[in-house]
Amino acid sequence: MMKANELRNLYLTFYNERGHELAAAASLIPEDDASVLYISAGMQPLIPFLMGKRHPKGNRLVNVQRCVRTDDIDEVGDDYHLTMFEMLGNWSLGDYFKSDAIKMSFEFITEKVGIPISKLAVTVHKGNDLVEEDSEAVKTWQSLGLREHQIFYYGDEENWWGPIGETGPCGPDSEMFYVNELEDCSEDCGPACNCGKYMEIGNNVFMSYDKKEDGTLKDLEQKNIDVGLGLERLLILKNDLYNVYETDLFLPLIKKIEELSNVKYDLSTQKNFRVISEHIRASSFILADPKKIVPSNSDQGYILRRLIRRAIRMTLQLGVQDNILIDLARVVIDEYKESYSQLKLSESFILDELAKEYNKFNKTLRSGLKVASKYFDNLDDQELKGEDAFKLYDTYGFPLELTIELANEREKTVDVEGFKRCFESHQKKSRTGSIGKFKGGLAESDEMSIKLHTATHLLNSALKQVLGNTVNQRGSHINSERLRFDFSFDRKMTKEEIESVEEIVNDAINSKIEVSVSEMTINEARELGAIGVFDSKYGEKVKVYKIDNYSLEICGGPHVKNTSELNSFKILKEQSSSAGVRRIKAVITT
Ligand code: ALA
Repeated sequence: MMKANELRNLYLTFYNERGHELAAAASLIPEDDASVLYISAGMQPLIPFLMGKRHPKGNRLVNVQRCVRTDDIDEVGDDYHLTMFEMLGNWSLGDYFKSDAIKMSFEFITEKVGIPISKLAVTVHKGNDLVEEDSEAVKTWQSLGLREHQIFYYGDEENWWGPIGETGPCGPDSEMFYVNELEDCSEDCGPACNCGKYMEIGNNVFMSYDKKEDGTLKDLEQKNIDVGLGLERLLILKNDLYNVYETDLFLPLIKKIEELSNVKYDLSTQKNFRVISEHIRASSFILADPKKIVPSNSDQGYILRRLIRRAIRMTLQLGVQDNILIDLARVVIDEYKESYSQLKLSESFILDELAKEYNKFNKTLRSGLKVASKYFDNLDDQELKGEDAFKLYDTYGFPLELTIELANEREKTVDVEGFKRCFESHQKKSRTGSIGKFKGGLAESDEMSIKLHTATHLLNSALKQVLGNTVNQRGSHINSERLRFDFSFDRKMTKEEIESVEEIVNDAINSKIEVSVSEMTINEARELGAIGVFDSKYGEKVKVYKIDNYSLEICGGPHVKNTSELNSFKILKEQSSSAGVRRIKAVITT
């Protein structure tokens, strides 16, 4: 079996032989960059050089960069989604361009990793106002032997990369996928689909633009190539395995959990094993960072706290009563110290912080779980009140996302907006400062979130209009990039249905409607036909937001003043969330 370290070296040597010099990888916490909490791509530390600054190592670079992305945290536990992963990256800074980049990526993944051409699929940009359909990429892929059915054309939502944060280098891209032996899940199944048939293994970005603060794109003086490949996923393929947990990156952790818990790793326990090992690996790497991030309630520390507390809860579910995190972190340090010496240097810090966080949470976890169960058992409605979620957060240390997870397990939802209101009023009372940046987690009450909140109302009503009144909200989550909306519906939506929903929402946006709000009693709201949660006490006034005849919904707000502020609305994904519940991810483009 090929070890991860051998694959790292195989990769570095391949690009080195093609003129690429090793660029030092950065630590996980960005330097002087407040726009993101963690390094999420290998290009991030190289931004000044992509913008034209000369790199001391020349204009062809290669490295292995650890990255943290929390967007996929709910997916962790499947075969290959991770919160921390290692990106194999290579760059041309104004040197070679598209076809050479694609050819090298292709040669590496087919000849060195050994993926048969027949198992590949690629995506290319289908063109927009600025760029033509990427015929050069298509021709290059064809010249390498890819057939028409292996090449997929998508727009900006799938095939435009970057910038990271609001501004900076970006451009169209061409992604590469491994095609699993699965039937298409629907007529329009393809690499953009989350059904598991297509596993992304890498991305070739043709980085030619600089996105400015006003949203315009300026040509970059130098055209760059930014390629990223996923080490863990390539390791599965190199070794003919099925999932990352069978590779040497995770297997020792899985074995150790078996030993410490006395529970066997099988289909019924696999999710717990996987989440524990993935989160403890990510947490150990975060704690090893020279910036000495510790678990806290804001910024990087909050993400770290979520990972550790979720892992602790997963151990408890396995019936483990002790703190096994320390022994697991020791395995991480041992297995990775050769490639990441910082782990060994930070060993005592990592173990101490894990012990402290465990002790803090362990005191309240069991009683918190009991209280949470009581709350869920006594719900009149499907939704846990914001104030109860806040109680679990404030008194029992449950990160909001943990409460949402408990709700999902019971097919219930949480009033996230209500939680945020409690959170904010508590912050004001205790004057402890701002809500903090819960990037990739709890949404900020920023402008984007407010817009997405209004978009959520429009979406909710449009879904009822297109799919019928049986559709009901089952969950909603907003972060500064997208909205996520769960609703009761028992099959995949067709392409036409998705388009109709988008059309209705965009219609409301284009009609430039004033959003109005009035206060009334629950009964009055019900009589008017408002939707939303009718859980207030009798006689208590609620706010009802109205968007002409598009939407009437009980809600605490806040919302935009006029729908035109949303600009345009697009559904990125429609997928299954749990039995009888569908999930939509959507964005507004500004
Ligand atoms: N920067 C590109 C990505 O992260 C390679 O997909």
